[in-house]
Amino acid sequence: MNEKFSKIGFILAVAGSAVGLGNAWKFPTLVGTNGGSAFIVLYLILTFLVSFIIFLGEIAIGKISEKDPVNAYKTLAPKYKNGWKFAGVCILGAILIFSFYSVIMGWILKYVISSINYLPSDIESSKKIFQNLLSSDLGVIMFYYTICVVISFYVVSKGVKSGIERLNVWMMPALFVFLVLMLFYSMSMEGFAKSAEFMLKPNFSALNKDSVLQALGLAFFTLSLGVGTIITYAASLPDKTNLVTSSISIVFINILIGVMMGLIVFTFIFEFNADPTQQGPGLVFISLTTLFAKLGIAGHIFAVAFFVSLLFAALTSAVSMIEPSVVFLMNSYKFSRKKALLLIFIFVYIMGIGCILSYQANTASSFTFFNKPLFDLLDYFTSNLLMPISGIIVSIFVGFIMKRDSIYVLFGKYMSKDVFAIWYFLLRFIAPAAVLYIMINQLFA
Ligand code: PHE
Repeated sequence: MNEKFSKIGFILAVAGSAVGLGNAWKFPTLVGTNGGSAFIVLYLILTFLVSFIIFLGEIAIGKISEKDPVNAYKTLAPKYKNGWKFAGVCILGAILIFSFYSVIMGWILKYVISSINYLPSDIESSKKIFQNLLSSDLGVIMFYYTICVVISFYVVSKGVKSGIERLNVWMMPALFVFLVLMLFYSMSMEGFAKSAEFMLKPNFSALNKDSVLQALGLAFFTLSLGVGTIITYAASLPDKTNLVTSSISIVFINILIGVMMGLIVFTFIFEFNADPTQQGPGLVFISLTTLFAKLGIAGHIFAVAFFVSLLFAALTSAVSMIEPSVVFLMNSYKFSRKKALLLIFIFVYIMGIGCILSYQANTASSFTFFNKPLFDLLDYFTSNLLMPISGIIVSIFVGFIMKRDSIYVLFGKYMSKDVFAIWYFLLRFIAPAAVLYIMINQLFA
């Protein structure tokens, strides 16, 4: 028997997994580069038509089998069990994501500490600090990275209830409170009105041909799909939970936090006439820090609160990347939780160091493969190949291989026959077709 979450624990743990760096920085950056609110509309449409549909599919696999992904596919497949179990290899994706995600957590922790008494006042010095951190301050980066990995593993070592649930039950509300306070502060700034307009008033002409692909990729990543996380958490779902309303709440929290984060970030950008189309880490680590610096002492408090929020969001996601492989090793090889964690720790710690070295000036060339630093390669491979392929597999498996009746037994209590039929249709045909379409476009663009 699996250890089970409590009902609220389940919602917060899955929301904690979903809400992460994807919302905190991929979301604002993509909104920025795709002209604001029209992108959000697109993201919402794709979330409801594709990723939420597959999300429910993963919930079904996890809840009906009550197993880790490898054993879930094996148990549920009526035939070719040993073939289907390979679909569970997707759990490897989660620990590959963890390998670079934990490095970013290390950067964030470093910024939490350094923002207490120092914020760079101009872009040039801010850029230099960030680039030095990535390319030469190996000792510093290793220090913060190691702390983040150890904390993540420590939480998972405590198990589903006293580790993962406990972390999420206090950290998610804390994250929310931080965001609300920061949002209130932002409202007192002039940039807020522009930020709200940018985020909420659709300007469809700003969309470009890549926007659809990026929105779908984001919708996938932020819901933690395709790497076995949702399947594994659903295996610990308490009975008699209303799966449909819980799932809708999770998606809603996920969107809400992305939008709040975006409103805060863009308030600063517009307040100080910075560039909303800045890319990736540049937006958060380089621009924002200099904008915070302009607020004096309040800026330091804001900066620390901001980076702590990022860290909370990231940590609750990070633990959900480790858990699937732990449960797999426990189920298949009868490992204890500790032994499973040790094995995974050795693997991800080494991979993470590889990611760090792939950005350091002296070692970058030895850690570059197919023209990409290991860090970027892992990100690319997981987001563009592994997650979408695995999403297609989920929809085919649930839509065509599993018995319709067994799924209806699970969902029928919480949705009408017609709604079920619509979901089932979207799952079988629309979701896989859409994912295939983005994948082909991304790979051959
Ligand atoms: N959903 C997380 C985020 O938005 C990332 C994640 C991916 C978490 C896969 C778990 C598994 O940052």
